[in-house]
Amino acid sequence: MFTQRHFPVFPTIVAFAVLAVLCCGSAQAQQLGGPLPNLDPQEAKWYTAGQKMFFRLWGVKEGLGPVTTDGGCVRCHKSPVIGGGAARLSTYFGLTNPDGSFDQSYLGGPFLQPFGTVVPPSCTIPGEIIPAGATVEKRLTSPLFGFGLIDAIADADILNQVTFELNNYQADGIHGMANMELDYHSPPLLRPGRFGRKAQQPTLLQQVSSNFAHDLGITNPLVPLPDCSQGNCSINANCMLPPDPNSRNTTSNGPGILDLSHYERFLAPPPPPIPGQPGQAIFTSVGCIECHLPSYHTPTQVFFDIDLKGTQFGPSPSLSNQPVNLYSDLLLHDMGKLNAGAFPANTLITAQATQQMWRTTPLWGTSVRTVFWHDGKTKDIPSAILQHSPDGTGEAAAVIGRYKALSPSDQAALIAFVASL
Ligand code: HEC
Ligand code: HEC
Repeated sequence: MFTQRHFPVFPTIVAFAVLAVLCCGSAQAQQLGGPLPNLDPQEAKWYTAGQKMFFRLWGVKEGLGPVTTDGGCVRCHKSPVIGGGAARLSTYFGLTNPDGSFDQSYLGGPFLQPFGTVVPPSCTIPGEIIPAGATVEKRLTSPLFGFGLIDAIADADILNQVTFELNNYQADGIHGMANMELDYHSPPLLRPGRFGRKAQQPTLLQQVSSNFAHDLGITNPLVPLPDCSQGNCSINANCMLPPDPNSRNTTSNGPGILDLSHYERFLAPPPPPIPGQPGQAIFTSVGCIECHLPSYHTPTQVFFDIDLKGTQFGPSPSLSNQPVNLYSDLLLHDMGKLNAGAFPANTLITAQATQQMWRTTPLWGTSVRTVFWHDGKTKDIPSAILQHSPDGTGEAAAVIGRYKALSPSDQAALIAFVASL
């Protein structure tokens, strides 16, 4: 089952015909917050090892800090069960210069780590504050269910969707863009981003390594430099900053981040919706599916990396040939001026996405969410729908126009369908 690296582009036979398998994809009757069914015994071991890393609260001796957003992944990803999201927002800052250029590293940006640490012998490293005059963006914690399936979708299928939207949704002005980013392989491959609210990360491993380093402050082979308080690393000169032993990054092989990524890899997706709801047909006819693509399908044989040298495991019984009923094309769309974020393109938290562009949020798991939108701005589904185009601009304008023209009972049916996902 262990093989040398296969390139991660596995075009599948089923590009768009997947719409048809919506109701009948393999029964995934697993519990929210539990593992995928059909785990291979080795995959089950990786899931358990990863779960330990995800569930644990870290201390300074184990590598937490020098500054941090919190002591463990579970402190944020916990609602309604561990692996989910939260109503909690993270903060990012940078400086917009008078000439319009943007400095994402300004005084410790772009990640605000509000908590400091005390390191031996007795040095107190202060938590970060938002510097005066900084440009600030806030983002809501995302749920992580089904992320291994998302990671397994073939690049070619995401890129084909770009062409499909260009050819089919021109009348509505909908044309998703892939956020192309380099992956961690050597030599790196340019791949469509899929993780993060701007689809700024192309692989689960990169996303998780970024969270490990920038949320907890635990460096690792993919993010080897620590974030220092307000960007000032010299304040640590007389302190004994402990190494990060539990990221086990002393070897170049990165088992710490691999363990952590395996937890999300094997975390089951939310259950599929009950078929035959009247609102489902309205979701289609109004055009919500033009961005909220009901389903991708994973390749017939999925392999994944088990070290950073290119050794792979597979074909994975749990990830191969599976429906991914995520209700997202994973592409970026221009959501209009009123939805502009503060960060411009070409930063760590945006990649190529411009201010008005956001990744279509996967709607699976909506039934257990209480807060919506990238910044948690809306508290219910009807407001989230209207937020797509509050001023009639952006790519969603035509679809939202059709939604507004629906009868109240059709709107209610559509909302009930979305609420059931
Ligand atoms: C302080 C709260 C916080 C902590 C701690 C935290 N996260 Fe997150 N996480 C977030 C927020 C906020 C986002 C959304 C950021 C974005 O998408 O740009 C996010 C996004 C993610 C994503 C991508 C979600 C998506 O929709 O694609 C993954 C994967 C993830 N976190 C994993 C982790 C792991 C693993 C840890 C622990 C090492 C962790 N997070 C710790 C708040 C947190
Ligand atoms: C042009 C593409 C597009 C169309 C059309 C579209 N959406 Fe969205 N949708 C998005 C994007 C992008 C987001 C994320 C916006 C953000 O957070 O800034 C989103 C977010 C959402 C959310 C919030 C999810 C969350 O958890 O935060 C809901 C609910 C939603 N859409 C439902 C719908 C419904 C229902 C329709 C049809 C009436 C629809 N969308 C049409 C692109 C689209």
